[in-house]
Amino acid sequence: MPILAWSKELSVGFEAIDDDHRKLIALFNDAHEAAKATAPREFVEKLLTELIEYTGWHFDHEEGLMEQHGYDMIESHKLEHRELADNANMLYVQYLGGDDTVPGVLLPFLRNWLTAHIMGSDRRLGDFLNGYRRREL
Ligand SMILES: [Fe+2]
Repeated sequence: MPILAWSKELSVGFEAIDDDHRKLIALFNDAHEAAKATAPREFVEKLLTELIEYTGWHFDHEEGLMEQHGYDMIESHKLEHRELADNANMLYVQYLGGDDTVPGVLLPFLRNWLTAHIMGSDRRLGDFLNGYRRREL
């Protein structure tokens, strides 16, 4: 049973970003399931690595869209991304160093952060990108 499920409430109304978020949620759930089931460390590590790397890729993707379309709130949005990335990376390094308590902290932190960020800042970005698209038509 996934602890984070995709739903309409999480849609930002912009398909390219929603697609990323669906993938992010799938990776998150895989890592969570493995950590909860105390799967072999190498397996949990592999899934956490994929989750962290994909999160970085996705932030770059969103930031590229913001730059391309001259998003007015780019700086504050980027700052939110950096704060999450810094915190998540710090915990991830701690895990690689042997601290097995990390998934129990990192995964709830990510779940709460992702939900709040998607429904707040990312939705504002989705609205902006949709407005931009309408102006282009
Ligand atoms: Fe974002």
